[in-house]
Amino acid sequence: MNEFHDHWQRVYGKKAETSVSWYQATPARALASVREIAPSLEASIIDIGGGASTLVDGLLEVGYTDITVLDIAAAALEKSKARLGARAAHINWMAADITSWSPSRTWDVWHDRAAFHFLTTPENQTRYLNALERGTKAGSHVIMSTFALDGPDRCSGLPVQRYSAQTLAQKVSPLFKLMEESQEQHLTPWGATQSFTFAVFVRS
Ligand SMILES: C[S@@+](CC[C@H](N)C(=O)[O-])C[C@H]1O[C@@H](n2cnc3c(N)ncnc32)[C@H](O)[C@@H]1O
Repeated sequence: MNEFHDHWQRVYGKKAETSVSWYQATPARALASVREIAPSLEASIIDIGGGASTLVDGLLEVGYTDITVLDIAAAALEKSKARLGARAAHINWMAADITSWSPSRTWDVWHDRAAFHFLTTPENQTRYLNALERGTKAGSHVIMSTFALDGPDRCSGLPVQRYSAQTLAQKVSPLFKLMEESQEQHLTPWGATQSFTFAVFVRS
């Protein structure tokens, strides 16, 4: 693996999942969006850079049956598995670096909150977008959250690339069209606000 792998393994090894800046008790916005764009419980959903997010808990509660969580840090996935207990067996867990991963199937919904924005080089962004192309099909949706243009320029000690819905749309076009956008204010566990761009795209 690489320095990013080591970084994220260390972060999840030493910090409680509830104490990281990106922690959300319930990722309500993303859950509502998945339910709206993919109402069938057979819809397949992948959470890219899902970390130890509780999105997977919410998806299981709704009743989705085809859920994958991918993260560069196996330590993050272990936290979610421990939290979910027996329910973890219903999830496909993938410890992989999105910039060197080649999907062998497609998903109806590709969700990414705060993973893509860590890819700050054109090479890594292209690798991500190639995986996105291979991992989706016509009609698939992408739900993407990144730091907004007025959001922080670093997270977890690493630089990030900030986006508006329009600059994100430029990255995923012409394959994906912007359907919906909003700006979200995330409250960190210590009460700071972080400005996020939230955008939903559909593949034509
Ligand atoms: C800020 S955290 C967000 C976690 C989760 N999406 C959430 O909202 O709680 C960023 C996540 O992206 C993962 N990540 C960073 N670079 C990655 C890469 N190249 N491939 C896969 N996952 C990556 C990290 O391990 C971490 O779990």
